[in-house]
Amino acid sequence: MQEYEIRHINAVRKIAPECMVLLKSDGSFPLDKPGKIALYGCGARRTLKGGSGSGDVNVRAFTTVEQGLENAGFVITTKYWLDAYEKAWLDGRVGFRAWLKEKIAAEGMDTLMENLSIVMPEPDYDIPLVGEGDTAIYVLSRLCGEGVDRQDVPGDFRLSRTEIRDILQLEKQYDKFMLVLNTACVVDLSPVAESVSNILLLSQPGMTVGDSLADVLLGREYPSGKLAVTWACGDDYDYISEFGNRDDTRYTEGIYVGYRYFDSVGKRPIFPFGFGLGYTKFSISCENPILRGTEVCVPVKVKNIGSYPGKEVVQLYVSIPEGKLDQPYQTLAAFVKTPELKPGEECKLEVSFKMETLASYDSESCSRILEGGEYILRIGNCSRDTMIAGIVEIDSEVTIERVTPVGGDTDFDDWKPEKEEVSASREMISANSDSQVTCNTCKGKSVVRLHLSSKDFKPFAHHAPTIDPEALSLVRKLPDEELAYLCTGDFVGEGSQDVIGGSAITVAGAAGETTGRFKAYGVENLIMADGPAGLRLSRLYGTDENGVYVIEPEKEEEVEDKMQLLPEAIVKALLAMFPKTFDKVERTGEIREQNCTAIPVAAAIAQSWNTALAECCGLIVADEMKRCGIDIWLAPAMNIQRHPLCGRNFEYFSEDPLISGKMAPAITRGVQNEPGRCVTIKHFICNNQETNRFRTSSMVNERALRDIYARGFEIAVKEGKPLALMTSYNLLNGVHTCERYGLIETMLRKEWGFDGIVMSDFLGVEESESDRTNKYPKFNSVRSIKAGLDLLMPGGKGHYSNLLNALRGKSAKDTLSRDEIEKCAARMVAFAWRLKGKRIKH
Ligand code: BGC
Repeated sequence: MQEYEIRHINAVRKIAPECMVLLKSDGSFPLDKPGKIALYGCGARRTLKGGSGSGDVNVRAFTTVEQGLENAGFVITTKYWLDAYEKAWLDGRVGFRAWLKEKIAAEGMDTLMENLSIVMPEPDYDIPLVGEGDTAIYVLSRLCGEGVDRQDVPGDFRLSRTEIRDILQLEKQYDKFMLVLNTACVVDLSPVAESVSNILLLSQPGMTVGDSLADVLLGREYPSGKLAVTWACGDDYDYISEFGNRDDTRYTEGIYVGYRYFDSVGKRPIFPFGFGLGYTKFSISCENPILRGTEVCVPVKVKNIGSYPGKEVVQLYVSIPEGKLDQPYQTLAAFVKTPELKPGEECKLEVSFKMETLASYDSESCSRILEGGEYILRIGNCSRDTMIAGIVEIDSEVTIERVTPVGGDTDFDDWKPEKEEVSASREMISANSDSQVTCNTCKGKSVVRLHLSSKDFKPFAHHAPTIDPEALSLVRKLPDEELAYLCTGDFVGEGSQDVIGGSAITVAGAAGETTGRFKAYGVENLIMADGPAGLRLSRLYGTDENGVYVIEPEKEEEVEDKMQLLPEAIVKALLAMFPKTFDKVERTGEIREQNCTAIPVAAAIAQSWNTALAECCGLIVADEMKRCGIDIWLAPAMNIQRHPLCGRNFEYFSEDPLISGKMAPAITRGVQNEPGRCVTIKHFICNNQETNRFRTSSMVNERALRDIYARGFEIAVKEGKPLALMTSYNLLNGVHTCERYGLIETMLRKEWGFDGIVMSDFLGVEESESDRTNKYPKFNSVRSIKAGLDLLMPGGKGHYSNLLNALRGKSAKDTLSRDEIEKCAARMVAFAWRLKGKRIKH
């Protein structure tokens, strides 16, 4: 192992506990020393470091829970159980594959990719629970991944019959028992949550997962994470009237996503947003809030009042007054994490935010407004444990910013809670608050009030960034073909078809690249690799006279295994579609390694509520990008965790846009501080399900679009200045996101000032009319360029010739002017110059 690998692994081991959330504790943990331990559960040996799909990272090795406990000196007394479970899993797989085979045969090509990605729900089995010792751990894991949503069935989103039975039994049987959740997606814990005394959300914290758990169990490290998503009872998610439809999914819940819903209707989740215990306790007290211009600052003192070291997260929520716009009970406005505090130690911090950030979209005036009234500041260490720290009063409505509606129309009005419902829930939430929080301001006195008038707010000006004039003058001299190349990812042969299964041209296992045709102008070929849980490359690769090639025997086995599920007709169709992909050409040459680190998945990073930790993750990735020759990282992914069944939730930070909006710029800083490297925030926008992902339309009203789904991207663009952004596969209100001029040119560039490049998500190539059995087609390359998309990824002859034909007036359906494509091509040139610092004048 090389020195950098060890350094990065040590860093991951150090930060992983901070991403874990202790959900229940009776004080039995941490343990004094390693001893006999009874280890159970599907994640004990089949531990997950992260999720699957493009968000997976190919690592040399990672520690499972079983290995981690043994490394730490525990003696596992349940090897028989782990072996028997393995057999039960394999037996279960036989039935599952038979079911899947039938499903594929019945449904055919249309849902093939989704079907092949379905994760097997946990099987039922009967294995005696007779491990020796007084301490037991049950590791529950759930794999989620790209390409398919989770299933609302036992063994996936729900606990299986066997899991419920075993967990409840173990709780009774052992003196010390802990349920460990090796999942980055919500599981309905309602059947066990009350009975089990110790629950740790281990999450999927990267390649030291097993060692990191052992560190926490032994108190060598302590968990200090807080939930970044609500964990509620399965049936309570019904409020989301639609999820996972193949054609149109209506987001009728509007802005009431996650805690915004649960708080507003007074439903108590199992574990609320922002919740998390530690091995110690803290008291939080706050002083009078103050105003600095329109910035609200609440000074707080946090004291460790327990007997272990720890870190606390202070959260500031605001109840925004209802006027013409309805508002949720509260909205997270700011948060700050303390440094490590030893028992008895205290620190002073300030939690602050600008009032403008609370503005809501008003569809009547097409502007973001703050209504007149009382803004109640609530400070606490969980959304359900806060105290009023003060009130900011605004005398009358303020228009913060006039904007242009960009999302298009829907056929519904958003749901909103009844007014009585919100007030009842206000009472319930405050009555339930059994608080460690005190406010010096409100003890015996009336709550402090701060005043702002509309004159205190400065109007917001919008400026679209100008296109680099030298880049523009260069591309104006280029022929049509070269413009089309600049706006299309590099490809060999026929393009995208060859790309499936390994698009590596320059770096093995990379996701794609721009173009190397323009080096004479200082425009370098830029190589892209996936994330967000690290750098996704092929660990082993070969080099011969034809370049690099991927060596991934496990992946080949996986493909062969999947082929066995396919009926002959489908195999024939696939071979006809991708003739080269299945050709086995033996290649020779030297075999090399490139080892990358699996960092915590985004959902785990968010649970740290620590932006410095997120930056550190960015630094690890940047260092490996430099070593492996990667210029553009296709991460962080910033979609909102709208529904617990979304297959890619582990790649996304939170249900709350502020958390996503603060984590992404921190990661961006880590990556982009390394010269020549940049991030790509993705998937812009409303990519909240995997079902029919290329052709499903998210139907969202402008208020929810702007206040929830765009908000995190907006913060990330303004604070992090990412150099690239990827649009999503899905459509937004019937039009592909990459074809929406308003989204790209108006909102992203003009209103937010984004001055990087915009690329499409990969392989969204258009199909011919005759291939279409869906309501919507895949996106159209020409319309995307017209809308301001700069780069069609991963490229291919299809995109290239569409652009060229449209430019030359030879397309039956699309036209494209030189002016339109020159803007995109110039942005690509300017981007390459900026990233690599090689501007060559012509
Ligand atoms: C995913 C993206 C990813 C791209 C390149 C797509 O299928 O949606 O997140 O970056 O592939 O691998």
